[in-house]
Amino acid sequence: MDTVLDRQLPLNPVRTQLEATGHTTPRGIADAQAPVNGEPDRSAVPMKLDDVQLAVAGLGYVGLPLAVEFGRQRDVVGFDIKRSRVDALRKGVDATLETTADELKAATGLHFSCDAADLADRNFFIVAVPTPIDAARQPDLSPLVGASEFVGKVLKAGSVVVFESTVYPGCTEEVCVPILERLSGLKFNRDFFCGYSPERINPGDKQHRLPNIRKITSGSTPEVADLVDRLYGSIITAGTHKAESIKVAEAAKVIENTQRDVNIALMNELALIFNRMGIDTEAVLKAAGSKWNFLPFRPGLVGGHCIGVDPYYLTYKAEMVGYHPEVILAGRRINDSMGVYVVAQLMKAMMRRRIQVEGAKVLVLGLTFKENCPDIRNTRVVDIIAELKDYHCDVDVYDPWVDADEAQRQYGIALAAKPQAGHYDAVVIAVAHQQFKDMGAQALRALGKPGSVLYDLKYVLAANESDLRL
Ligand SMILES: NC(=O)c1ccc[n+]([C@@H]2O[C@H](COP(=O)([O-])OP(=O)(O)OC[C@H]3O[C@@H](n4cnc5c(N)ncnc54)[C@H](O)[C@@H]3O)[C@@H](O)[C@H]2O)c1
Repeated sequence: MDTVLDRQLPLNPVRTQLEATGHTTPRGIADAQAPVNGEPDRSAVPMKLDDVQLAVAGLGYVGLPLAVEFGRQRDVVGFDIKRSRVDALRKGVDATLETTADELKAATGLHFSCDAADLADRNFFIVAVPTPIDAARQPDLSPLVGASEFVGKVLKAGSVVVFESTVYPGCTEEVCVPILERLSGLKFNRDFFCGYSPERINPGDKQHRLPNIRKITSGSTPEVADLVDRLYGSIITAGTHKAESIKVAEAAKVIENTQRDVNIALMNELALIFNRMGIDTEAVLKAAGSKWNFLPFRPGLVGGHCIGVDPYYLTYKAEMVGYHPEVILAGRRINDSMGVYVVAQLMKAMMRRRIQVEGAKVLVLGLTFKENCPDIRNTRVVDIIAELKDYHCDVDVYDPWVDADEAQRQYGIALAAKPQAGHYDAVVIAVAHQQFKDMGAQALRALGKPGSVLYDLKYVLAANESDLRL
């Protein structure tokens, strides 16, 4: 009898993608740990910590700081498919600004490569490649599949592969392990082993950095879990939390971001209600926050490749097992619709001031998905820009953190070199970069024409210093 799962799968893009690459065998941990010839074969016991020959695959926001931290202590191959990234890192330049030139220099054991042949002498791999969603908001596992293929081709008996990318529970064992087995000809949990250790870094946050954030670890056998835990323990001063299984560790990561997403959605919904009532949401949150257990979330756009993306990994898997998530997806819907709401608010305010909307000059301050970092992946500021253009406004976008070529390449947005003072009918503070805070209310207002509208989406200014807030 076909199950709900069977009926749903043929329509699923990830399934289709896996079929296209020949990875169709879902395989759980129970199966993976099944005894070989009746008895579990422990002939290939995990290596000692001193024998670890480490490679980190994927040198982005997550992989680079990790490779750098390990590279201070041991020999590490830092592997990335993007040649320009590897070339820049070799010159001591990290475009993500997560590591400094001095930190790169201090990682004397770290060698960068985009040649998979350099992985051949490695026996411990950490994979930190992107896990985005596609246009239909379904998991796009192609980078993870690609990285598993690179590793599978060079995998030797006794090796360990640890995944850091955020995924749904079960992904490591159901998607990555079969690829590793197929390409290496080795058997999982007999010849090679896996682990999962999710990353918790927060781009742009100079306080919470890799070594001082407690890290979850896990392994496909108790011995491997110990090894993975000890390896990470060698660089994480805040300590580790060894999870019961790879699936537990995967689930823990995805719910951390889902919880944030749902909480922000609640704040957004409250803002929608209070705005209709003429009550200042920030003032309400400050008052409610005087209670010891009121959680300090704020309304806003939810962008980036984590909080706005990871919940879809969980809901995808939930639907695969026959559960249709309601709260999580309701939160996603609210958060994804905030750009449209913000522009509707702005349009009403402009009309009240008799500002002609069509052809109005609007300045959007900030393009990144969060403050004080150059990351524009999945920024929802683009929803505001698109909506303003739908109203035929003439939009300038200014962001001192963003590489202009990158904005053009990713979104076709030509960044303004410098906003002109006294030029705009409306100014939207979309990202709370320190530069905008430093400008202060007077300078920000001076960017607009007399009588223009100043919208402070991020509570950069005091309540009485702008015309609109969320
Ligand atoms: N950035 C964060 O704050 C953060 C925090 C926690 C978890 N995560 C998760 O960590 C993972 C990585 O995120 P990121 O922000 O570092 O991504 P990123 O886009 O900054 O970097 C990923 C790197 O992987 C490289 N890459 C892509 N495919 C590859 C392949 N097949 N082999 C080798 N390299 C490949 C890319 O060129 C890129 O340099 C994602 O799953 C993400 O959800 C990110």
